[in-house]
Amino acid sequence: MAEDSPLIRSLRSALEAAPADVPLRLHLAALLLDDGEFEQAVAEIAAALQHDPGSAEARKLMLRAMGAPAPPAAPPAPAAAPPGAEPPPEAASVSFDWASAEQQLSDTVQPRFIEPAAADGADDPGDEPAWDIESSQVRLADVGGMTEVKQRLEAAFLAPMRNPELRRLYGKSLRGGLLLYGPPGCGKTFIARAVAGELGAKFLSVSLSDILDMYIGQSERNLHDVFAAARANAPCVIFLDEIDAVGGKRSSMRHNAMRGTVNQLLLELDGAQHDNDGVFVLAATNSPWDVDTALRRPGRLDRTLLVLPPDQQARESVLRYHLRDRPIEGVDLVKLAKKTDGWSGADLAHLCETAAEAALLDSAASGKVRMIGMPDLLAAAKEVRPSIESWFTAARNVAMFANDGGTYDDLLAFLKRTRRL
Ligand SMILES: Nc1ncnc2c1ncn2[C@@H]1O[C@H](COP(=O)(O)OP(=O)(O)O)[C@@H](O)[C@H]1O
Ligand SMILES: [Mg+2]
Repeated sequence: MAEDSPLIRSLRSALEAAPADVPLRLHLAALLLDDGEFEQAVAEIAAALQHDPGSAEARKLMLRAMGAPAPPAAPPAPAAAPPGAEPPPEAASVSFDWASAEQQLSDTVQPRFIEPAAADGADDPGDEPAWDIESSQVRLADVGGMTEVKQRLEAAFLAPMRNPELRRLYGKSLRGGLLLYGPPGCGKTFIARAVAGELGAKFLSVSLSDILDMYIGQSERNLHDVFAAARANAPCVIFLDEIDAVGGKRSSMRHNAMRGTVNQLLLELDGAQHDNDGVFVLAATNSPWDVDTALRRPGRLDRTLLVLPPDQQARESVLRYHLRDRPIEGVDLVKLAKKTDGWSGADLAHLCETAAEAALLDSAASGKVRMIGMPDLLAAAKEVRPSIESWFTAARNVAMFANDGGTYDDLLAFLKRTRRL
């Protein structure tokens, strides 16, 4: 590898301080390409694409790096070699390591060829897995507000998990997972994905009600497959959504399937026959009071974290996040956040979409493109109905009358603070 030029060296150190600076990274990639450092350039472009998958500049550079027609400035290839001459040296066509480039890009681009699915049972729809494994690009910084939740996540989960030494030290006590609970649409799934992003882990999300519904009588095997897939993809966050679906308080028709599922889940969580190192379990529910109590015992989903509707500051960042890629002008986030007290993150996302739709329809009707402005957002705020009060009505009773062991102390405190109690 050639010695880096001073410019390339200083770009690299600038990037260490600002790893998400896509233009800077692409600038470095272009210089590397000019120097013939194709592999290094591909790595930088891939990193840029992870931050900004839609970047046209990145795609252009990538094509160049992968041997698209050379730019006109390149020296012309020698014409037919004179008889008897040496074959042109390898360097004339820059050798390029496809395999490693494909590996580096496997998260960002589709494979060139799709492998035929394994023959056995490939066309049996029942064999289609109910889960996806994704590489999470979301970080905690993308989650608006929620300072307290983030701090608790950091202390209770991220810090020890990030550090393999600590993980070994704590050993079994860290086996257990974390149960996120709270009203719908307030960011449980979103946060779980961000936790995976923070850990640089894959994210495998499954809904337990899907597992129950899709595979009557097979849910144990499928749950086992989920955990096996996570182990094979470690480090991996398994996110068990709607974990209340296997709770005991459901119709008795599903009861048998549920018992088996709970038992299997316990086996997998306890990791008795398995090495769960690098497998992190997060679960979520809107109704923790329906979660099977066996799942809540120590070493299992023994820590709970209440995910509340966003406060003023959080609403501002949630709104900022959902407006970040939209054409807006003159938006007063503080005012908007004041008007949306008691709204969930999902309600706010919906608000931004409604406003964008109005501006778009208007532009189409008038033939003149205009930005999304405060009038659109305020009008949308009148139209969209916040969705979570009914959750608090249900939660109030549980917090008051079934708060065994102080499980719902956080919830009680919040209900009091917001005068819902
Ligand atoms: N704190 C937040 N910051 C940014 N977006 C949020 C936040 N909370 C919720 N959202 C938005 O609301 C949507 C629904 O949140 P989700 O995580 O699915 O809620 P839950 O799993 O609690 O029902 C998310 O996809 C995201 O768009
Ligand atoms: Mg969810």
